[in-house]
Amino acid sequence: MKSRLIYQSSCQVMPGGVSSPIRSFSHVKTPPIIAHHGKGDMLTDVDGKSYIDFCMSWGALILGHAHERVVKAACEEIQLGSSFGLSTEGEEKLATKIVELLPSVEKIRFVSSGTEATMTAIRLARGFTERPKIVKFTGHYHGHSDSLLVQAGSGVFSVNSTATSKGVNLSTVGDTICLAFNDFDAVSALFEEREDIAAVIVEPIAANMGVIAPEAGFLEFLRECTRARGTLLIFDEVITGFRTSLSGAQGRFAIDPDLTCLGKIIGGGFSVGALGGKAEIMDHLAPLGDVYQAGTLSGNPVTMRAGIETLLTLEGAGFYETLEKKAQRFAKPVENAIQTCGYNVVFQRIGSMFTLFFGIQEACSREDLKNLDQKMFARFFHFLRERGVYFSPSPYEACFLSSAHSDEHLDFTAEAILRFFEEFL
Ligand SMILES: Cc1ncc(COP(=O)(O)O)c(C=O)c1O
Repeated sequence: MKSRLIYQSSCQVMPGGVSSPIRSFSHVKTPPIIAHHGKGDMLTDVDGKSYIDFCMSWGALILGHAHERVVKAACEEIQLGSSFGLSTEGEEKLATKIVELLPSVEKIRFVSSGTEATMTAIRLARGFTERPKIVKFTGHYHGHSDSLLVQAGSGVFSVNSTATSKGVNLSTVGDTICLAFNDFDAVSALFEEREDIAAVIVEPIAANMGVIAPEAGFLEFLRECTRARGTLLIFDEVITGFRTSLSGAQGRFAIDPDLTCLGKIIGGGFSVGALGGKAEIMDHLAPLGDVYQAGTLSGNPVTMRAGIETLLTLEGAGFYETLEKKAQRFAKPVENAIQTCGYNVVFQRIGSMFTLFFGIQEACSREDLKNLDQKMFARFFHFLRERGVYFSPSPYEACFLSSAHSDEHLDFTAEAILRFFEEFL
């Protein structure tokens, strides 16, 4: 098989054969898919095997693969040159659109990845507040910059579930305080005790330890505590931005964060990240202020164009309502089957993102995931893969729907899940 050969050969020249660890499929102990092309809700590998894709480039492809409007715009743009290292009109257009859509964002800086966005946001928070410490939540993933790679979720679960990555100095992570998500008391105690916190960074809907919603009032509580102490509240909306609504998780929960990190969807499938927020904070970035940040390919014109076309499509009448209907159509039979199933399985969905947790009774924080049945998940993953359905290859990840998912494919997948329940649970 061509996939195996490419993977074996990649392993000779790339660590683990991959450019990002999760792509190695190490959680499910199988050679990875080597993608060749995608169209709509389908992904096809180099051997010509096609899958209904529920990973969708980790949530970046809310319109599905190779969406006509996005492809056309990107092709037009690249004819004009792929990069200039200069400002372009596309940046101004995408920035204006995001400022219009996200209530808390007055100014935007484009970068090339979500990691850069969060890294810059915390530097900016420290520069603005002149305080050293940051607070994050256990199991939340904010990219792989040193100070944020502490008790993180996503692929980091498999590297080390409690500490940071090797190679990160203790002196760096010493400035990062980790609390349990949804733990009101811990937040309260910390703010009683300390006055040196520059920022609290949070995934407003956790999606890197599976999909876990904030408890009622938790985000509001974070907003109150941070505001009272002059600490900045950073929403990491790299996944949630434009995923559950046009105004992000901040619109959904009506919270006004000081800074917002974006990525994935706003690049229409191209490398992207951005941070945005109040002008009085953002203007501390160079060249206006003395918090430094830069990037050769930041605000790349092809990316900007793909991002604009994506957001314009999301603005179309009824986009999110239709996506929600698709999600409900898929979710209903699965939820019903779980109720009559004799095994512990939790299905958590917010809009078009969801996770099935095997072997546990509830999933409200990372602690709850300690006893996840990884073997059962791997069996589930293979069962679906054999039937031409590709789910995110880790029990700690979210799966994503796109507007391209057809009713037929959603029904087929729900049916396959039900069959798995019948056979194995
Ligand atoms: C919430 C969140 N923040 C930040 C990142 C890092 O983004 P990137 O992979 O583009 O560096 C991710 C990546 O999945 C993410 O899910």
